[in-house]
Amino acid sequence: MPRQGVVMLLAVARALRPVARSVRTPVRPRSTVAEAESRFITGHPDCNVTPYIANLVGRDLHKKSAHPLGIIKDRIEAYFAGLETSYDVFDGEDPVVTTTQCFDDLNIPPEHPGRSKSDTYYLTDTELLRTHTSAHQSQHLRQGHEAFLCTGDVYRRDEIDASHFPAFHQMEGVRVFEKEEWESKGVEAVDLARDELRTPLEGLARHLFGDVEMRWVDAYFPFTEPSMELEIFFKGEWLEVLGCGVMEMQILEEAGLGDKRAWAFGLGLERLAMVLFDVPDIRLFWSDDKRFTKQFEAGMFKAGGVDMRKFKPYSKYPPCLKDVSFWLPKDAEDGSNLFSENNLCEVVRDAAGSLVEEVKLIDEFENKKKGLTSNCFRIVYRSMERSLTDDEINTIQEKVREDMVAKLGVELR
Ligand code: DAH
Repeated sequence: MPRQGVVMLLAVARALRPVARSVRTPVRPRSTVAEAESRFITGHPDCNVTPYIANLVGRDLHKKSAHPLGIIKDRIEAYFAGLETSYDVFDGEDPVVTTTQCFDDLNIPPEHPGRSKSDTYYLTDTELLRTHTSAHQSQHLRQGHEAFLCTGDVYRRDEIDASHFPAFHQMEGVRVFEKEEWESKGVEAVDLARDELRTPLEGLARHLFGDVEMRWVDAYFPFTEPSMELEIFFKGEWLEVLGCGVMEMQILEEAGLGDKRAWAFGLGLERLAMVLFDVPDIRLFWSDDKRFTKQFEAGMFKAGGVDMRKFKPYSKYPPCLKDVSFWLPKDAEDGSNLFSENNLCEVVRDAAGSLVEEVKLIDEFENKKKGLTSNCFRIVYRSMERSLTDDEINTIQEKVREDMVAKLGVELR
C-alpha cells in the first residue's frame, strides 16, 4: 500500500494510555533485545513484533535537534509558533496505541487493509504500534486541546527499498473552530474549516521549500471530508507535502466537541528530509555513523534547501545480491495465503536487520499444468557502515530461505 500520505490509519484515544511515556529501550538496530525483556513482544498469538522492530522503538530521532528529522520538526514547529493561533506541541506519546485509537475513533472501516496483520505490528489483538500520528487526535481533543501539533515514530510492515523503512516519523496538526467564527463570516462550518486550512498549510510549504509552485489535489482519507493533498513543484517534479482535510464530525462528536468544526493534516518527516537534505536512503536516518551524524547541525535549515549544506554521500560499500526462486503456496480454503510480499520482507528484516537495502520481485510465471506460480525475488544486502563478508551474508540468506519455507509455506526451487 502506498505509504505516507495515502489513506492510512487513524485514530484517537479512548482508553487513554499514560501520555508522554516514551520508551527508551537502550537499543541499536543491529543489537537484539531478549524477547522476554521487551514489552512489545508479548507472547500473544497475534503479536507480530520482532526483536528487530522492538529495538527501533524509543530512538526518538525526531527529538534530536541536530538530526535531520529533528531539524525539520523544529522548523515546522517554529513556523506554527509564528502564527496568530497558538498550537500546543506534543512529541512524546507512547507509540503503543489501541485499535480504537488507531482505527475505530478515526472512522477506519473494519476491512481497511491498514488494519491487517500483514501491514501492521500488533502486540495483542487490541494493541499495536501506531501506524500514524492521527492515532492521537481524539485524545488531545478530549483533553481540551483545540490547536495542536503531535509528532512521533510510526510503524508499518511493508516493502523494503530506499524510501521505505518499517519505522518512520509523522507530524499531525489539528485546529478547531467555534460556531461564532463561521457565523460571523456568514459561511458554512465546513467551508470555513476548508478555507482556513489553505493559508497556514501553504505558508508551511513555503517555509520549508521557499517560493515554489503549489497545487491542491483531491484525496480520500476516512477521517476527513473533504480531503486533499498539497503538492509542490520541486526539483522538476510534483511532490506531495501533506494530506489534510476537514475532520469528520463523528470524531469531534465523540470527543465532546459536536458543536465545532476542525481541520487536520498529517505529514511524513523522512520524505521531506530526504528531498531537502538530499539523503538518498531512508536507513541513513537510523545510522550512528559519524560520517552521517556530523553533517547536520541544529537550526541549519534554510527554506528550500537554498544555500544550505546538503548531505554529502560517503563512498557506498558494495552491495551483495541474492536471488531466491520458489513456488508460492496454494491459497487456503478461505482464500488466504501465508505468502505475501510484506511477509517476505518481514522474514528478511528479521534475519538481516538494517543490512537489507531492497527486496524486489524480478520474475514471475505460472505453470498451468502444476497450477502453481513461481516468483523470483532479488534481495540486495548492503551495510551503510562497513563491508559485508560473504560468510555473514550466506548465513543470513540461509536463515531467510529456511524461514520462507517454515513461516511462509513456499517451496524453494
Ligand atoms: N494519517 C494519514 C496517513 O498516515 C495522514 C493524514 C491525512 C493525517 C489527512 C491527517 C489528515 O490528519 O487530515 O497517511
